[in-house]
Amino acid sequence: MNRLEGKTLIMTGGGGSIGAAAALRCAQEGANLVLTDTREDHLHAAADAARAAGAEVLPLVSDARDEAACAEMAAKTVESFGRIDMVWANAGEVWVKEALEQDKAFWTECLELELTGQWLPIRAVLPTMIEQQSGSVLVSSSMTANVGIKHIAAYSAAKGGLQALMKTLAVEHGRDNIRFNSLAIGSVEGRHIIASNAMRQGITYEEAERLVGATKVVRDEIFPLGRMGTPDDIAPVVAFFASDDSAWVTGTNFYPDGGLTHDGTAGISGLSQQQLAKYAGLLMQ
Ligand SMILES: NC(=O)c1ccc[n+]([C@@H]2O[C@H](COP(=O)([O-])OP(=O)(O)OC[C@H]3O[C@@H](n4cnc5c(N)ncnc54)[C@H](O)[C@@H]3O)[C@@H](O)[C@H]2O)c1
Repeated sequence: MNRLEGKTLIMTGGGGSIGAAAALRCAQEGANLVLTDTREDHLHAAADAARAAGAEVLPLVSDARDEAACAEMAAKTVESFGRIDMVWANAGEVWVKEALEQDKAFWTECLELELTGQWLPIRAVLPTMIEQQSGSVLVSSSMTANVGIKHIAAYSAAKGGLQALMKTLAVEHGRDNIRFNSLAIGSVEGRHIIASNAMRQGITYEEAERLVGATKVVRDEIFPLGRMGTPDDIAPVVAFFASDDSAWVTGTNFYPDGGLTHDGTAGISGLSQQQLAKYAGLLMQ
């Protein structure tokens, strides 16, 4: 299928687990890509894989929190490809601490990446999309904005803020034919979950990686679909929002989470304390 032929997509955090998988999927569907990340090695690995699938790719080492870098990202995209059809604000990190330990410095740093760092790339591309009178804006929110999971207060607040931001912009720029949607992503295998588990349990990344494998059966049990997600489960969802198949979809919050949150209110918050204790350290952002 070449439904993304001729489209240019920007993906922040494009070198990450989900970013790289979505980049590959969109490359396979014919898109040109601008991938940004602060980790150069992962960024180039993702770019090489997308190129091997036939895409033209511009990898940029670029910090999503930096307004000037975001402006440069938008300018370079237009210079290279002539247009911007989608920006997927997806860069993120792990922010685990008990709520009362989240002082102003921690809180500010988290929101600077998880909320401001998603707004700035969007703000940088909006003038081009308004001029084109078309565009799709997608953000990587999290199911943690919709169900309670402890020790991620600032992160959850930021991810909830993203859902609110998309709804506001959907109304403000709907007549410009720009769509704004959020993904309330559930637990997906990869660096994010491993780093999160490591922080929660006070163990190294390598130990957490081993544990994630060893506890797979127990963890998979809690998903209505019987398994935790993989980056490849999210990739086609991103491709859908990049494509004209989502032409009449805006202001939505979509839950790619294997059914974990059901209707957004039950799911893991409906688990008993015993079940929660059993899964402590396995249920993550
Ligand atoms: N993996 C999950 O289970 C899960 C669940 C819910 C939400 N999410 C969200 O999905 C997004 C992608 O997660 P992932 O699992 O691929 O994580 P990941 O850690 O593999 O990828 C995130 C990428 O963002 C990059 N990044 C960090 N700071 C940056 C900055 N300032 N500028 C540019 N890039 C930066 C990192 O280098 C990394 O490559 C994140 O926003 C995360 O919060 C993930």
